[in-house]
Amino acid sequence: MDYKQINIDDISFFKKIIGETDVFTDEEKLQEYSHDETEDLSYPPEVVLKPSKTAEIAEILQYCNTNNIPVTPCGARTGLSGGSLPIFGGVALSLERLNSIIEIDERNLQATVEPGVINQVFRDAVEERGLFYPPDPSSKGSSFLGGNLAENAGGPKALKYGVTKDYVLNLEVVLPTGEIIWTGANVLKNATGYDLTSLMIGSEGTLGIITKIVFKLIPLPSKDITLLVPFNSTEKACEAVSAVFRAGITPSALEFIERDAIDWTLKYTDVNLLIDDNVQAHLLVEVDGDNLDILYKDCERIFEVMQQFDCGEILLADSESQKNQIWKLRREIAESVKSNSVYKEEDTVVPRAELAKLLKGVKEIGKNYGFKSVCYGHAGDGNLHINIIKGDMTDEDWNTKLTLGIREIFELTKSLGGTLSGEHGIGLVQKDYMDIVFSEKALQLQKGIKNLFDPNGILNPGKILK
Ligand code: LAC
Ligand code: ZN
Repeated sequence: MDYKQINIDDISFFKKIIGETDVFTDEEKLQEYSHDETEDLSYPPEVVLKPSKTAEIAEILQYCNTNNIPVTPCGARTGLSGGSLPIFGGVALSLERLNSIIEIDERNLQATVEPGVINQVFRDAVEERGLFYPPDPSSKGSSFLGGNLAENAGGPKALKYGVTKDYVLNLEVVLPTGEIIWTGANVLKNATGYDLTSLMIGSEGTLGIITKIVFKLIPLPSKDITLLVPFNSTEKACEAVSAVFRAGITPSALEFIERDAIDWTLKYTDVNLLIDDNVQAHLLVEVDGDNLDILYKDCERIFEVMQQFDCGEILLADSESQKNQIWKLRREIAESVKSNSVYKEEDTVVPRAELAKLLKGVKEIGKNYGFKSVCYGHAGDGNLHINIIKGDMTDEDWNTKLTLGIREIFELTKSLGGTLSGEHGIGLVQKDYMDIVFSEKALQLQKGIKNLFDPNGILNPGKILK
């Protein structure tokens, strides 16, 4: 794609719209906005803009659309698929100043927020009123709700409560032309025309820029119990996952953690946990609700199921602090793997009963291509994060041969009824594999949608589709 280079007149225009102090062209800022959390990728923009109002964003987009300047929206840049990398330079449009919780409507259990609100800030604000916003990606302490929508983020609680998309009722969106639309209505049921709200969620900033979000909320469950279940066989651990649901229980989280993932994270964090040498994997299970007796009964049934799959001694967290430590360990796996080694991350998802086959296949593919993988993820959702470790691989193998190995992993995922990404998105790093899961016609339809919203291709170009 050929885009216009940003010049002094463009900068003057941006300064006129949003003010001198929120337009940045210094090297340090450009570097800061050149990356998210995806591998070690870095693509500096030519300018960073920090507008604070929908109307300013509309003017910026209209200008860039007329002048053929690429615009890459970005939030907290915690993404793992490169969705906010300005790969063609141009404008990095930060949503960080649109950070108000506009309203929490306790009568209707709804909230209206701007996209730059941090997930945890929002969950704390609604929890104070006894309400619950379930989507809880590991990045919840820093990621923005807008970015969570862009990638349709999940997290452990998605298992019982659903992903980001399941909590969004309505969106204000600025289109590349600068026009502003609302996509739906603030209602729990909506059978009115095509579902533009769902279309926007997971579209990774390629169709429009979300400037207001109306969420639905639910009452906050008051009690939960956390269990950590060790296994000497990864296969048995995976098989136990679907058996829990067949026993009639829906935990509020059911996570799989391979031995290496725990060991690497223990090195990186201050969490203390003694693990027997033979343990190959853990399942981390949480049940929640309002009645402790019922939760303990659920735990008893979970114990029975786990024992059928030869689990070791189950740890039931007996204090808030132990619970927090276990969850801290789980949430810091991604950071820990990153700090230990160069890696690539795949976000495969299969029907949950196929998890054991997926894991076994991934290890076999790793053997054939000479890579090690560290796996963990939201097992109850069949969502396995596969971290491929560079280790001793040569740069050439890492940069060229590995692509074939990753393709094989995705082909296996597809053959098991799964797909490329459960919650991290396609962004830049998975777009070359879209042909595995979509027919030419299905890809053409998606390109048609992109073209309809953004005929000049200025909005987050080079993402999702080739
Ligand atoms: C997690 C992120 C990486 O599950 O999705 O920790
Ligand atoms: Zn995850």
